[in-house]
Amino acid sequence: MQITYSEFAGRVKGSEIRELLKYTRKEGIISFAGGLPDPSLFPLDDITRITKEVLNEKGLLALQYGPTPGEPEMIDALVEHMANFDEKATTDQICVTSSSQQGLDLISLVMVDKDSEIIMELPSYIGAIQAFERAGAKMNGIRLLDDGMDLDQLEEVLKDKANKKIKVRFIYTIPDYQNPSGIVMSLAKRKKLIEIASRWEVPIVEDSPYREITFNGVTFPSLWTLSNGEGVIQLKTFSKMLFPGMRLGWITAQKEIIEKLALMKQSVDLCSPSFNQLIIARFIREGRMKETIKQAIALYIKKNASMLNSLAEFMPEYVKWSKPTGGMFLWLTFPEFIDAKEMLKIAAANNVVYVIGKPFHCNGTGQNTLRLNYSFPSIPQIEMGIQSLAQTAKEFCEIKKSI
Ligand SMILES: Cc1ncc(COP(=O)(O)O)c(C=O)c1O
Repeated sequence: MQITYSEFAGRVKGSEIRELLKYTRKEGIISFAGGLPDPSLFPLDDITRITKEVLNEKGLLALQYGPTPGEPEMIDALVEHMANFDEKATTDQICVTSSSQQGLDLISLVMVDKDSEIIMELPSYIGAIQAFERAGAKMNGIRLLDDGMDLDQLEEVLKDKANKKIKVRFIYTIPDYQNPSGIVMSLAKRKKLIEIASRWEVPIVEDSPYREITFNGVTFPSLWTLSNGEGVIQLKTFSKMLFPGMRLGWITAQKEIIEKLALMKQSVDLCSPSFNQLIIARFIREGRMKETIKQAIALYIKKNASMLNSLAEFMPEYVKWSKPTGGMFLWLTFPEFIDAKEMLKIAAANNVVYVIGKPFHCNGTGQNTLRLNYSFPSIPQIEMGIQSLAQTAKEFCEIKKSI
């Protein structure tokens, strides 16, 4: 039978990264490719105990369908979690999601039509690019500088779109320890961005999975907080600060926007799992979330330092990298003539893999960039892997020069 697929389905392209996964299957390979938390941090004992308690005390509720915006207990716990990290929200400003990727999906469904124009950082999170691409959005990339997106370029783009009578649907940004670059948006830029967005009447979508994972104790207020919730939709997830397996996250936004998103969510999955929500709510209420995040920070500080030290020791001087103060990634930039995709074959032969940078660029640039993850590999793997990567860079440069 000939099946006619939707336009939507046609827009979902296989990611280049998936094709490169074949290299990671090799025995003994060190992978800096994923965005996975260190599983040694997963609080197995607590989750086992709480799961039993939830089943014993609230089993009938836990195994039932729940309200689309989330279990009231979970929403209360989210308000508490946010308060622990200096953020305020009321219960009607929250919608629980099946992690942030669903948040991105809901945003696409509610705010993007085919050919709608949106703005994002260059580079930006590949999963967001995929979701927006599927919705048919036209993506405008804004240069990312060391302290966040280039706001002069943003103004130019907004002006140009306004002149052409194009209504930009939203500005998508990851202000805290950005994926893929690890960059943090400065406080001054956060304020300016809110001012610009409000002046041009463009909402901001703030995606912030890494905000809690801060190494130096310095966290700037979120865009949600700085804007008093005016014109900002914030996406959050437990995937990075806790674990991804329960697929839980949440959206914070003005009540009317939350209602719209929740209505759409109803058509997507009715509700996020009640069972998971009740477990995580109790975990937060017991203060265990804060503890787990503290442990994650302590471990990732060491891993991040190990990667930075190894890069400084072994990488040739023509390679540049970001020096993140939180999150899970750092970002490498090679001379223009280096194609990170081509180099990956040599890297894999040298037993190390990474994620190429190009698919993180909505305009198809960035072939000389790559992302490294330090949260998942062990410290000995980081040290060995960076040595192999440095060796790879030198070998690849020699090959390129000799051509
Ligand atoms: C910036 C950003 N947003 C969203 C996600 C999606 O994560 P999840 O769906 O597991 O919450 C990720 C995952 O890597 C991410 O880095």
